[in-house]
Amino acid sequence: MLINQEKTTAYFADAPADIALSDVDLTRVPRHVSIIMDGNGRWAQARGLDRSQGHVAGVDALREAVTTSVRLGLDVLSVYAFSTENWKRPQREVNLLMHLFATTLVKELPLFHQENVRLRFFGDLTALPKETFDVFRQGLDETADHDGMTFALAVNYGSRAEIVRAARDLAAQAVAGEVDPASIDADLFASQLYTEGLPDPELLIRTSGELRLSNYLLWQLAYTEFYVTDTFWPDFDKWEFLRAIAAFQGRSRRFGGVV
Ligand code: FPP
Repeated sequence: MLINQEKTTAYFADAPADIALSDVDLTRVPRHVSIIMDGNGRWAQARGLDRSQGHVAGVDALREAVTTSVRLGLDVLSVYAFSTENWKRPQREVNLLMHLFATTLVKELPLFHQENVRLRFFGDLTALPKETFDVFRQGLDETADHDGMTFALAVNYGSRAEIVRAARDLAAQAVAGEVDPASIDADLFASQLYTEGLPDPELLIRTSGELRLSNYLLWQLAYTEFYVTDTFWPDFDKWEFLRAIAAFQGRSRRFGGVV
């Protein structure tokens, strides 16, 4: 995406000692960055707070991540907000998260309008509470005409379920005579996934130090660079984001070949 140089420079003023905007090459930022936002609970526990307050603080970090992505000119920012396994959490926490997703989305719609951000979701939304589903639908409708950055929220998302669903859909199309099984290749398969039409993430960031994929974008992350930070999600700020981009730009990407 094109950036507004003046806004970007102002946004990254007051840099800490170890990182600055000049440490990244704005002509080589990844098109798609994806984030596994982890550590809200531990952030809260470390402060003697309820886990729910960690999630509330996580919303502020997410808003900053969206703004940072726009200022850096990413095409896509995607984040893992709720997995198919997260339903196993205490009912109270699940309810709180679903309500937080809905209220946050309504509250942040002006930001999406202001920054020309288009919303998108990865996951099966039909299983969500009506309040959350309706607000997501509204968010999709209201931002459908925006042609700036795409912001994708993975909610009730699981990668294995996504891949199985794609296989089932293709099988049904083959049985109906709409698809020749011999024509099924990686591109056609990818077109059945929630990420259809988006570039694969070039950079995956995971906060709070865990070294796991947790059933996230297994297909799409085939050649993605990983960046793991010990920082808990609520403390992940624009400077952490810049450190991740700088680290990414220092990597040599070979896609299985040699350079
Ligand atoms: C991981 O922390 C975080 C989540 C499962 C929820 C993510 C939600 C937010 C960041 C809130 C804002 C999101 C939106 C879309 C409005 P954890 O609970 O797994 O932390 P822990 O590993 O320390 O227990």
